[in-house]
Amino acid sequence: MKYDKSKAQGSALTTFLGGIAILLAVLFLLVKLATSGYFYHSVEESTPTAIETRIMSAGQVQEGDGTPVGQRTGEQIFNKICIQCHAVDSTVANAPRLGNAADWGPRIAKGFAVLVNSGINGFNAGMPARGGASDLTDDEVARAVAYMTNESGGNFEAPAVNADGASDAAVPADSAAAGGDVKADGKAVFDKLCVACHASNSAIAYSPKLTDQADWAPRIKQGKETLFKHAIEGYTGPQGGIMPAKGGNAALTDDEVKAAVVYMVNQSGGQF
Ligand code: HEC
Ligand code: HEC
Repeated sequence: MKYDKSKAQGSALTTFLGGIAILLAVLFLLVKLATSGYFYHSVEESTPTAIETRIMSAGQVQEGDGTPVGQRTGEQIFNKICIQCHAVDSTVANAPRLGNAADWGPRIAKGFAVLVNSGINGFNAGMPARGGASDLTDDEVARAVAYMTNESGGNFEAPAVNADGASDAAVPADSAAAGGDVKADGKAVFDKLCVACHASNSAIAYSPKLTDQADWAPRIKQGKETLFKHAIEGYTGPQGGIMPAKGGNAALTDDEVKAAVVYMVNQSGGQF
């Protein structure tokens, strides 16, 4: 009986001490794990470019953010987004590296349109749509593609950054509607200025009125270039009607005036 009791006490003690030992061991391992940085090392990016990007001053990392969306250059976008995988020394599997003509050669051979499409919509498993930056416009992606390929043996022309800050999408659409080479919003110019004398109900003497085909037909016959010239330089008609140069606003660009002419003509039976 006595023997049995001490044996029972001994085994309870062993269990207790064993429990503490296991608890300490688990605590020790947890502390080791938390301080080892294990969680952070799972992304293996220790190339010089990756490190440089991490230690850049905040100002540099933000570079390009001050530029309105749609107006960023290919280089700005590359250095902010695409560089994560397309850096000179990238270790991302299959990603063609900046400046590496061998990486880019076969891709450049596909042509600019195909590459831009890959940039916009993504390509295979590794290349995310717009490099993962959904705020990039199509033109911005195209500029980044042109920048990368031109640094890597290609020779593509990037879509221009518009100095006037008009959105990328609006400009090609308008220029297409306005006869190809004219790059401004003719309706906007008309509505702001030309309407003062060319409104459909204008009372200004001799002024051809918007949508009035009888007013416009003989003028349209002179041809596009003559009308552009008269609108830009000014024109006095045979009966003394006066069209002031650029409608009186010298700050308008030639393209803006031309776009307004195209808009007026096309609203009035013409086809410029
Ligand atoms: C997260 C990594 C990653 C980012 C960020 C990234 N790319 Fe890529 N990109 C890849 C990989 C990987 C490939 C190769 C895919 C393949 O061929 O399997 C690739 C391929 C491409 C190609 C070639 C596609 C083709 O048709 O051969 C273009 C063009 C491209 N990327 C443009 C860009 C642009 C522009 C950006 C920045 C806006 C960008 N990438 C950002 C990973 C990335
Ligand atoms: C202050 C009034 C006035 C304003 C503002 C004005 N126009 Fe005119 N415009 C005229 C008059 C008047 C004529 C007719 C002149 C004539 O044929 O006797 C005319 C004629 C024209 C013609 C026809 C020229 C030709 O050779 O037959 C064009 C094109 C034209 N304007 C474009 C514009 C555009 C574009 C704007 C805005 C940027 C504009 N105008 C603003 C008064 C104006």
